[in-house]
Amino acid sequence: MLAGKRILLIIGGGIAAYKCLELIRRYREAGAQVTPVLTKAAEQFVTPLSVAALAGRKLYRDLFDLTDEAEMGHIQLSRAADLVVVAPATADLMAKMAAGLAGDLASTLLMATDKRVLIAPAMNVRMWQHPATRRNRATLAGDGILSVGPNEGEMACGEYGPGRMAEPAEILAATAAALSAGALAGRRILVTSGPTHEPIDPVRYIANRSSGSQGTAIARALAGQGAEVTFVTGPATVPPPEGVHVVKVETAREMLAAVTAALPADVAVFAAAVADWRVATESGRKLKKDGSGRPPVLDFAENPDILATVSQMAQGRPRLVIGFAAETDDVVAHATAKRARKGCDWILANDVSPATGIMGGSHNTVTLISATGAESWPEMTKDQVANRLAQKIAEALA
Ligand code: CTP
Repeated sequence: MLAGKRILLIIGGGIAAYKCLELIRRYREAGAQVTPVLTKAAEQFVTPLSVAALAGRKLYRDLFDLTDEAEMGHIQLSRAADLVVVAPATADLMAKMAAGLAGDLASTLLMATDKRVLIAPAMNVRMWQHPATRRNRATLAGDGILSVGPNEGEMACGEYGPGRMAEPAEILAATAAALSAGALAGRRILVTSGPTHEPIDPVRYIANRSSGSQGTAIARALAGQGAEVTFVTGPATVPPPEGVHVVKVETAREMLAAVTAALPADVAVFAAAVADWRVATESGRKLKKDGSGRPPVLDFAENPDILATVSQMAQGRPRLVIGFAAETDDVVAHATAKRARKGCDWILANDVSPATGIMGGSHNTVTLISATGAESWPEMTKDQVANRLAQKIAEALA
């Protein structure tokens, strides 16, 4: 499964470090070569001797061990791997990574590497949910850092909730996925994302609550599988992912033009929350109160339906066209009708009624509607939805 792969395993200082002994064993059984690095704190949880013995290789602990000419330098060490895995990724290590600190060997290697990095976070539930950790998680995801877990469950500290490190088997599977050549290598995929802003006058516009997080996660997951992604995004609140071609637009009409320019593509995913209507008579000057007490009357015009336009293209239609249906009631029925109306292949339907907190939130509960029926996915993070969709797309194109 991992034959010949070189893994630089950075072990952080948390109680879950003990699971790394099992992880090293599994990596080696799968054919990988593991070079372990221990942080100072990790040495309180696992002994350097047991780690080195299981890895069957030299263990690295100190930045200044590496200054000797005879030793491998930290730059070389960070690059002589196919993948860097951080397990457990403690709150402290994640904060260092997010801030770009390089005060010890582990953080320096993470700054210096040119390889992909997979983290397996583990910490107390409150620490996981702390706003600082949330910020760091978002930063790391935006930097293209892959992650697995944490799982929910009983914690060593006696509390219950998300924070338990993923099991070695899960980390092994995530490692294999991160190292796979990329099921979508060579595929051109277009993704739309974010809201659109439809101007009323030079200072005002009509918008919606889309943060762009689901579209961003999808673009990141597709690029992670090797696809060549064009990411057409309205004014989103989350930053665009790394490693994709970003085209920024404001209005629905600009989005349609950018989408058309990005074709041909093998697949198109329309995750943008496009405004259905624009102000027909956009004012070139700021609208002023005229003293009459009467508010201005805005006339609306219908925006082009980008998904329907591309789905119904007579020539050059992408092989797989995927839309979203944000619904507040009768989700599957509405989405099934929407799929037929627009002419797309798949619809990912989600319930966006206010109680779900999906608009702008981190989770999504999705039903995939295709010609063969509806497949309900359990509640997942938007990254997990994105990975699952990328997987489905890869299967459909295979
Ligand atoms: N969409 C689009 N262009 C539009 C409107 C929507 O490409 N002008 C796409 C969205 O990106 C999404 C799908 O169409 O993939 C569904 O959008 P939604 O707004 O939920 O559907 P509507 O067509 O607006 O239908 P309704 O207003 O009846 O819910």
